[in-house]
Amino acid sequence: MTQNLLEVRNLTAGFETENGFVKATDRVSLSLAQGQTLCIVGESGSGKSVTSLAIMRLIDYAGGFIESGEVLFKGENIAGKKQQDMMRIRGSKMAMIFQDPMSALNPVFKVGEQIAESLRTHKKLGEKQAWAKAVDMLRLVGIPSPEMRAHQYPHEMSGGMCQRVVIAMALACDPELIIADEPTTALDVTVQAQILDLLAKLKRELKTSILLITHDMGVAAEIADRIAVMYAGAIVEEGTVDQVFHNPSHPYTVGLLRSIPGLDGERGGELYTIKGTIPSINDLPTGCRFNPRCPHVMDRCLREEPPLMPGKNGQRAACWLEELPKEGA
Ligand SMILES: Nc1ncnc2c1ncn2[C@@H]1O[C@H](COP(=O)(O)OP(=O)(O)OP(=O)(O)O)[C@@H](O)[C@H]1O
Ligand SMILES: [Mg+2]
Repeated sequence: MTQNLLEVRNLTAGFETENGFVKATDRVSLSLAQGQTLCIVGESGSGKSVTSLAIMRLIDYAGGFIESGEVLFKGENIAGKKQQDMMRIRGSKMAMIFQDPMSALNPVFKVGEQIAESLRTHKKLGEKQAWAKAVDMLRLVGIPSPEMRAHQYPHEMSGGMCQRVVIAMALACDPELIIADEPTTALDVTVQAQILDLLAKLKRELKTSILLITHDMGVAAEIADRIAVMYAGAIVEEGTVDQVFHNPSHPYTVGLLRSIPGLDGERGGELYTIKGTIPSINDLPTGCRFNPRCPHVMDRCLREEPPLMPGKNGQRAACWLEELPKEGA
C-alpha cells in the first residue's frame, strides 16, 4: 500500500480555559493521498479550522494544543515536534492559505518582496533569483503584468488579487501539502469562482495535495476528490464526492445536503432545516452525538457511540444504520 502524504489519527485538540480543557476536535482521523484534494465540510463551529490549525501545529499560537492523537506527514508524526522544526516544515513542505488574505500579507512590504523573502529563507535563493521566482509565481497564479505588480503593496491590490498573492506565496517553495481554510469566503462571488478555478488548475498542474476547508458544498463538489463531513468536532462521514454527495449515508450529511439550495436540483422551494442545534463538543449526549437531531434515532443510538465504520454505500459513516452484517452472521 502506498503511503498517504497526510494521515491524521484520533486527533483530539482543544484549548485550556478557566473551566479546564475544552475539546474542539474529537478523535479526528483522515487521510490525504499525494495529488488529491480532500474537502472538510460542516456547520460553523464543527471544528474544521481547529483541525487544520492542529495539523499545521499553528494551534499552539492560538492558545490551544493537541491533547492526543497523531499527525503523520510523509509517515513522520509531527504532533509532538518542536516549533523550531515545525517552522522549517511550514512554508516549505506544507503551507496554509487563510480566509482573509490581508491578515496573511504584511502591509509595509511589496508583495514581490514577501514572496522573495520566503524563497530566500526556505530555498536559500540569492536576492536576484528570489525576486525573479517571485515574479514567476505571480504570473503562475494569474496576476497580469507581474513584473509591475511585484512592486506594489497589498493595499494597492483588490481582495482577489491579494488572495492570489497569498496563494503564490504558499506555492513558492513547492510545498507538498496546501491547507486552505475558507480561502474564498472573504471575496465576492465572481472572484470566488476565479480563485477556485486557480486552485483546481494548480492541483492539476503542480500535483499539490490540497486540504480545503469550506462550508460551501458546491465548492467542495467541484474541487474535491474526497469529502469529510464534520459534526460537533468529529468526522461523521468520509468518502468520495460521488459517495458522500450523491449517495450520503449519515443522516446529518443527508440533512446538510437537503438544506442547501440547488444541490439536489430543487430550486425555489422551501429549504429543509435540520431541527435543533449543534451541541457543544464538551457537553455531548450519550451515544451518537447526532441523536437529538436525527430523524432515524434508535435505542442503540442513545446508548452506544457509533465509530466511523465502512458502510453500505462504500464510504465510512459513524451511524449504526450503516453497520454491515457480520461475516457469517
Ligand atoms: N482560540 C480558541 N479558544 C477557545 N475555543 C476556541 C478557540 N478557537 C476555536 N474554539 C472553539 O473550537 C470549536 C471549533 O471551532 P472551529 O473554529 O474549528 O470551527 P469551524 O468549523 O472552523 O467553524 P467556521 O465554519 O465558523 O469557521 C468552537 O466551539 C470554537 O468556539
Ligand atoms: Mg473555521
